[in-house]
Amino acid sequence: MTESRQLDGARALTLLNRIENKSAQVCVLGLGYVGLPLAVKLADVGYQVTGLDTDEAKIQALREHRSYIQDVPSDEIVRVAARFSATTDYDIIKDMDAVFICVPTPFDAMKAPDLEPIESAASGIAKRLQPGQLIILQSTTYPGTTEDKVLPILETSGLKAGTDFYLSFSPERINPGDKLHRVGNLPKVVGGLTPQSAELSRRLLAQLSPSVHVVSSPRAAEMSKLLENIFRSVNIALVNELALLCERMDIDIWEVIQAAATKPFGFMPFYPGPGTGGHCIPVDPYYLSWKAREYDFYTKFIELAAEVNQSMSYHVVELVTSGLSRQGKALCGAKVLILGVAFKKDVDDARNSPAERILELLLERGAEVSYSDPHVPRFRIGRNVFYGEEKQLVSQTLTEDLLRASDCVVIVAGHHAFDYPWIASHCSLLVDTVNATQGVTDTQAQIVRLGTHWRARPPSSA
Ligand SMILES: NC(=O)c1ccc[n+]([C@@H]2O[C@H](COP(=O)([O-])OP(=O)(O)OC[C@H]3O[C@@H](n4cnc5c(N)ncnc54)[C@H](O)[C@@H]3O)[C@@H](O)[C@H]2O)c1
Repeated sequence: MTESRQLDGARALTLLNRIENKSAQVCVLGLGYVGLPLAVKLADVGYQVTGLDTDEAKIQALREHRSYIQDVPSDEIVRVAARFSATTDYDIIKDMDAVFICVPTPFDAMKAPDLEPIESAASGIAKRLQPGQLIILQSTTYPGTTEDKVLPILETSGLKAGTDFYLSFSPERINPGDKLHRVGNLPKVVGGLTPQSAELSRRLLAQLSPSVHVVSSPRAAEMSKLLENIFRSVNIALVNELALLCERMDIDIWEVIQAAATKPFGFMPFYPGPGTGGHCIPVDPYYLSWKAREYDFYTKFIELAAEVNQSMSYHVVELVTSGLSRQGKALCGAKVLILGVAFKKDVDDARNSPAERILELLLERGAEVSYSDPHVPRFRIGRNVFYGEEKQLVSQTLTEDLLRASDCVVIVAGHHAFDYPWIASHCSLLVDTVNATQGVTDTQAQIVRLGTHWRARPPSSA
């Protein structure tokens, strides 16, 4: 065996020892919805963890033991305080044994991947990279990012991947707002650049996860995460399309899904709604369709699903318009109150929420809009070219007066905090895009449920 291979073996064994006896110093780079729960979990299982983020406000909050992520109560930050610190200083990388990269992977206005956060994180690491370190990319991205983008940046350090340092990709599966599936009880997938990279990553991830599935390469791991998200996007699009058909055919899609879900095999329920949101479902599929074009390949399912899911916001506005007109009112000048602007129920994440487009379309058509969301105190709209005027809206307290003063109330995120029977008994028109009012009867409101046919009550003689 050559000297360098022996050295490589010694490095790997040293890191392995540190992983196994929990003396490894671990950095989580990017402390958002993914990074902060991961950092807390790593500290929980016994590692000394340093969180690194460019956002000074987040670092300050963490230093004061204040969490800004709903799924991570501040108590947890206090509980792990002895093993968790936070900084904006990339120089701490030099002292780390392992670094998880959890930065965002947004798209630009043309829905092309924006890898700037990954590239700047990788350059920040490259300037401080030390022999024997393990780097694990967790951000969701197109296949090839780890090998074609991150690896060359890291090797500008002069160190060689596979011999001097280790590199792998392991996607994150966290589901914000989900109390059942948490960091710590979810199986993980990992693909290493080399067998040693894969094995070291597997050993570290095994400390956090009930099982680790190793695939042959980072690109297989990157693709597996996109498959998971595209699977959701396509199935949601399918039920969205069927919901539109059910409205015309006078069938209740919610009843249909409930019935189909009694099949014990081969069926999994997905639900229609106002469109998809968050940092994953409306974004990640585009990463793959963009990359596929380089291979003369057009991902028709992905594009079609995105088109159907995006069209749902327009359909919601159509339901509002027709509901109002059946009550003899026009959308222009009507007061429309949106309930829930988060991208799904019971979370505070409003990124890419369908509420954004719905509010823009309503404003564009002359409605007076407001919203109420106990989880999202402020909500910015109008950032896209086609609405063009940026506005910050502030959540209104939900009162009987506000409901009565609204010509139409639209449920976009079905938070548990809302009292639906009470809401329905204090407004005149309620458009329900998520079936939150199922079973609510005997109300003052005309309820228009997405995915069901509805008939206007005869106008009251009063
Ligand atoms: N949010 C989810 O539910 C979820 C689930 C699975 C996977 N993911 C993926 O995980 C990744 C992170 O998502 P998120 O929701 O946690 O994003 P986020 O925006 O909540 O957090 C990212 C953090 O990275 C920081 N950051 C950005 N650039 C940086 C840099 N160069 N150096 C240091 N810090 C930097 C930001 O300040 C922010 O705090 C994305 O690729 C996303 O697709 C997200």
